[in-house]
Amino acid sequence: VTVDWDASDYGTDGHEHFMHKEIAEQPDAVRRVLKGRLDERFHTVRLGGLEMDARELREFRRVKILGCGSAYYAGQAGAQFIEEVARIPADAEPASEFRYRNPVIEKDTLYVAVSQSGETYDTLVAVQELKRKGGRVIGLVNAVGSSIARECDGGVYLHAGPEVAVASTKALTNMLVGFALLGLHLGRIRDVSPADGRRLITALQALPEQIEAILDGEPHLAAVAKELAQAPSLFFVGRTRGFPVAREGAQKLKEISYRHAEAYQTSELKHGPLALVGPELPTVAIVPDDELLDRNLGALQEITARSGPLVVVTHDGVDLGVVAGQVITVPKSEPELDPLLLTIPLQLLAYHAALTLGHDVDKPRNLAKSVTVE
Ligand code: G6P
Repeated sequence: VTVDWDASDYGTDGHEHFMHKEIAEQPDAVRRVLKGRLDERFHTVRLGGLEMDARELREFRRVKILGCGSAYYAGQAGAQFIEEVARIPADAEPASEFRYRNPVIEKDTLYVAVSQSGETYDTLVAVQELKRKGGRVIGLVNAVGSSIARECDGGVYLHAGPEVAVASTKALTNMLVGFALLGLHLGRIRDVSPADGRRLITALQALPEQIEAILDGEPHLAAVAKELAQAPSLFFVGRTRGFPVAREGAQKLKEISYRHAEAYQTSELKHGPLALVGPELPTVAIVPDDELLDRNLGALQEITARSGPLVVVTHDGVDLGVVAGQVITVPKSEPELDPLLLTIPLQLLAYHAALTLGHDVDKPRNLAKSVTVE
């Protein structure tokens, strides 16, 4: 196995933890994954590593994304982006499940393996199984020269740089950018107009500074996290583009604060989970300023009505009406890119919750950075 870095070569650069350093590095990490890939003449994306030309890429009728843990949640958001922008049916599945269920491999499906380390065994074996059956699989991988990257037919390197903390932050963010690049590329060789291409490219270019603005809000996020850390159990809710964000937020909190956190679609609250809502159970709600805003606020009123503590992660300028709670805002982007900025505050919530509880933020119990065994 050849990976191009070793954790022991890196320090925390004055940060208290690797996780904090890696959160702070995100604006630069995003600049790196975009570098040289935006084509402002044709309002599209250049992805030389795919090693497939437009004619080949137009043949695919479906996209299937495989990854584990946070990479799987990034894949869920990526699938939504690809389906929404490129209008190709797309979905994500945990690689750990896919490899065991004897899946049907279709020749007009583009398979995408996503992994920070490039060494996750479940993802690697899923890729090998795909290739054995003649499937076309590309990688969205951070670690250059890693096993998954080498096994794939081509791919998009994420260039987030070394990630040491077990809880993924900058690599996950770059996965989301990587899927946006892939989705835009697939879209512009189909029906996405130059104007829409330009709209998304402009939004991608704005991301680093928007992330910086969110990181400036750390003191407020730390205060909110301190309160949340007191609750033994929490809900994270979101819908459509906000749902993978909620899942990832719950995952981060579980991983490093050891608090029980469950993610639901906001629309599903009334179909069961609402029975648990009350003063003891806080909900972190992802509420983008999108076409579902009013419906989301309607569902959150049900929480307010039951005295459930709420933390609302939303866009600057959104009027929450009668919904009462702590408010965290992020700058507006284009709706298709909403998961990217909405995820950043959740990293800092998890980080400060873990700090409040005195846990080892970088090396949580029972977890490994890269699970290279079955
Ligand atoms: C492990 C880590 C997770 C990570 C997952 C996938 O389970 O604890 O944080 O998301 O592996 O890792 P990968 O390197 O494939 O992205």
